This record gives sequence, structure tokens and C-alpha cells, in this order.
Amino acid sequence: MKLIDALNWRYAAKRMNGNKIPAEKLNTILDAARLAPSSFGLTPYNIIVVEDEETRKKLLPHFYNQPQITESSAVIIFATWNTITENEVANYMAEIAEQRSMPVEGLKDFANYINGSIKNLTPEQLQIWAAKQTYIALGFALVAAATEEVDATPMEGFVPAGVDEVLGLTEAGLHSAVAITLGYRDAASDYLVNAKKVRRDHAKLIIKK
Ligand SMILES: Cc1cc2nc3c(=O)[nH]c(=O)nc-3n(C[C@H](O)[C@H](O)[C@H](O)COP(=O)(O)O)c2cc1C
Repeated sequence: MKLIDALNWRYAAKRMNGNKIPAEKLNTILDAARLAPSSFGLTPYNIIVVEDEETRKKLLPHFYNQPQITESSAVIIFATWNTITENEVANYMAEIAEQRSMPVEGLKDFANYINGSIKNLTPEQLQIWAAKQTYIALGFALVAAATEEVDATPMEGFVPAGVDEVLGLTEAGLHSAVAITLGYRDAASDYLVNAKKVRRDHAKLIIKK
């Protein structure tokens, strides 16, 4: 499927049929999220994959009982780091040095630049900034799911504290920001399955200057 056809095909499925996604499709979608850009490349989040049925049942009430949680094949949670300090920046520099086979000392200016940018942000501002990065990964995963012909419902209709507790995210230094359910639409029960996609047309959306 061409990209635009895939994007027209996709919709935020409200009901899924419980069928499993093949592992390689799930990996492709996760890889697309992994390849998403982030500010400075810091990627201040982790991606939690929940396939286990019991865990998804525990998540259900924290997602206001949205049926996709248990009818999907996997729930993907994008969880931001609770702290972003010079330590996290140093870890990132070590990662660049390793992956590009270069001395970490050569990254001093870059590290100082990032540290200078984050040091004046309050913890709340850092959280908002980190959450924005997760939405880029979310977008990449949604596009990849569409091209793989896997249904994907983006979700922020959940109680982060409840999700964090079920998944032990606080202990891991994480905080849930946004989620996707991946699976296959249930054409028989989803009232939106044949609904026309509603978007503002080019003339209304795009402003040319
Ligand atoms: C960040 C975000 C959060 C959303 N949260 C939910 C949600 O919790 N539950 C749900 O069923 N749909 C959710 N949606 C789906 C939107 O309602 C849907 O994408 C929008 O109406 C456009 O329709 P379409 O994606 O089917 O084309 C969310 C979408 C986004 C981008």
C-alpha cells in the first residue's frame, strides 16, 4: 500500500478482534518508534510493550475500560523519564561515543549545550518537554502500523498513576505519557469501521505565506 493509501486506511479502532499481530510486524512498528527523532537525540523515554493478557486486564480500569486494551494484541506505553539531569546526558554521550567509535571527550561541547538547555527547566517543564518527544515516536509507530496493515489506536484516555502502578513504572524512574493499542479492527462491532475520515481540507488547514 502507498503511504497515503495506508494513512487513509488507518483509523483509531474502537473495537478489536483479539487476533495476534505477527512478531515481525510488531518489531517493525517498534523499530519505527525507535528510529523517531528527538530533541538533541536524547530520547528521554522508554517504550513498554504489554502483550500479557493478565497485565492488560489489570490496565483496563485505568484506561476507563476502553475495550481495545484487552481486545488488542499489544498495548504500547510511551513512558517519559522522571529525571533528566547531567547523568542522563552523560549516558547519552557515552552511547554516541560507543556507537560512532569516537572518544567521549570530543562530545564535551555538545553535552554542555544540552545541560545548559535543560538546567533552567523546572521538573514540570522537563516532563512536558519529554512528553512532547514521545508523541513523535507515537506518530512514527502509527504510520508504521498503517503501512503494516495493523490497526493502531493512539490513547491518552488513561490515568497515568494507575498505569504506572500496574507496570511498576515509578520504581523504574518512568511516567506513562501516551499509549497505542495494536491489533486488528473488529468490523462487526466497531461503529467507526466504515465512517468517513474527517480532516480539514488543504485549503483550510495549510496556510501558505
Ligand atoms: C494523542 C491522542 C490520544 C487519543 N486518545 C484516544 C483514546 O484514549 N481512545 C480512543 O478511542 N481514541 C483516542 N484517540 C483517537 C482520536 O480520537 C482519533 O485519532 C481522531 O478522532 C481521528 O480519527 P482517526 O484516527 O480515526 O482518523 C487519540 C488520538 C490521539 C492522537
